[in-house]
Amino acid sequence: MTIATTTEAVRRYARLQVPRYTSYPTAAEFSPNLSEADHRRLLQALAPSEVISLYVHVPYCRDICFYCGCHSKKAIRDDVVEDYRAALEREIGLVGSTIGKPISAARLHWGGGTPSVLGASGLASVIDALRQCFTFEADFEHAIELDPRLVTPSLASALAELRVNRVSLGVQDVNPAVQAAIGRLQPLQVVEAAVERLRAVGIDDINFDLIYGLPLQTVASLRKTCATVAALGPDRIAYYGYAHIPERKANQRQIDPSTLPGADERFEQAEVIASEFRARGYVRIGIDHFARPDDRLARAAAAGRLHRNFQGYTDDDRSVLVGFGSSAISEFPDGYVQNVPDVPRYIKAIGEGLLATARGCRVDADAHRRARIIESLLCQFRADLTQLAPGADFGEEIDMLAPFVAEGLVSVGDGVVAISDAGRTVARVIASVFDVFYRQRTGRFSVAV
Ligand SMILES: C[S@@+](CC[C@H](N)C(=O)[O-])C[C@H]1O[C@@H](n2cnc3c(N)ncnc32)[C@H](O)[C@@H]1O
Ligand code: SF4
Repeated sequence: MTIATTTEAVRRYARLQVPRYTSYPTAAEFSPNLSEADHRRLLQALAPSEVISLYVHVPYCRDICFYCGCHSKKAIRDDVVEDYRAALEREIGLVGSTIGKPISAARLHWGGGTPSVLGASGLASVIDALRQCFTFEADFEHAIELDPRLVTPSLASALAELRVNRVSLGVQDVNPAVQAAIGRLQPLQVVEAAVERLRAVGIDDINFDLIYGLPLQTVASLRKTCATVAALGPDRIAYYGYAHIPERKANQRQIDPSTLPGADERFEQAEVIASEFRARGYVRIGIDHFARPDDRLARAAAAGRLHRNFQGYTDDDRSVLVGFGSSAISEFPDGYVQNVPDVPRYIKAIGEGLLATARGCRVDADAHRRARIIESLLCQFRADLTQLAPGADFGEEIDMLAPFVAEGLVSVGDGVVAISDAGRTVARVIASVFDVFYRQRTGRFSVAV
């Protein structure tokens, strides 16, 4: 096979729509068959020795950006945000009493939306509620997603007091024309000030979220963006491909589709981003992250300890993640459960003393095996089937990998599936071979690159 054949194959696969695999089965397989009673049983089954991770979702923002695909609404009235905070605390108490035993927590991740809309006292109050139900481990990791435009010196100090030790800043792009096209005006000085304020209070584990495939972005403009953001010295960068789903996200209809880069351009952009960060000493992690070599995520990746959960790549190896808030997903050893995304319905359910269960799915032994294989392919770019799924027969999948092998994207031998350097860009497509549900579907997910 020639380099041209491999490149042509990668470009072809990059156009396919595949899941992001932040779980397997993916959220597309969740169904309402998993009831509130099942949700309770999953919580009650937690062992007292279990050390879990916590996620709190806050679905409010100052404004809604045109591109946003997250579960969030514009926070217009303070009392509405306040009602939500009260429901969160009530849900925490409800979950704690359902678990019914002391449980330790090693991590807390605040996501959204923009969790800081709760204000310092709101965040503190929710943390108090969590502390009443869970014992925080000594080396507790406390992470929060922040909008740099809202990082005031007083918020930074409050976060330090709350022992936040990792933050994720939504940078997206630094080019003013791109920012105008995506409804996110955020001068570079705003990001610089946010970074300085956080570092000044001792919060120096900083991640930047950036997006490629946005309107008006070009390979040349992204080169500049990469250079500008790398100069600020973040520890990690998550560089997501823009997922444009205007049929499901009305806010995205404000984006003129004629200004979006095409599939080939997106492919070039992803390649350029990888080479720009590599040239600046960052290590490529998984499919869309970069980190300094001494960062925890980079060390986990080097040691084969990288994992993938609903927050993306992580070094968290715990099998239980309990999520709070509308749309939050919880992960248990035997299944996934998602809360209702609609905020009024979430508040109503919690007010009635019920868990706000919307849907979920059970994970049986076959799904566990496939989950381990898919995670390994996306984290380590290889999967040892004999180790991850001893005794299982994946003959059909090995046959389905034959075209990828012929195109130089994968090698298979001694039960090990290894993705080549060229194949990494389309690792999700390769991993989807092990997804039995995906085979029955088409056209439901964002493009692969
Ligand atoms: C909850 S937001 C981050 C925190 C904060 N709200 C902010 O925007 O600064 C999570 C991240 O998801 C990414 N994101 C949102 N919508 C996206 C989309 N449609 N496609 C790809 N990435 C997206 C953005 O990089 C965003 O920063
Ligand atoms: S990108 Fe962040 S600030 Fe913008 S709407 Fe989405 S969650 Fe809110």
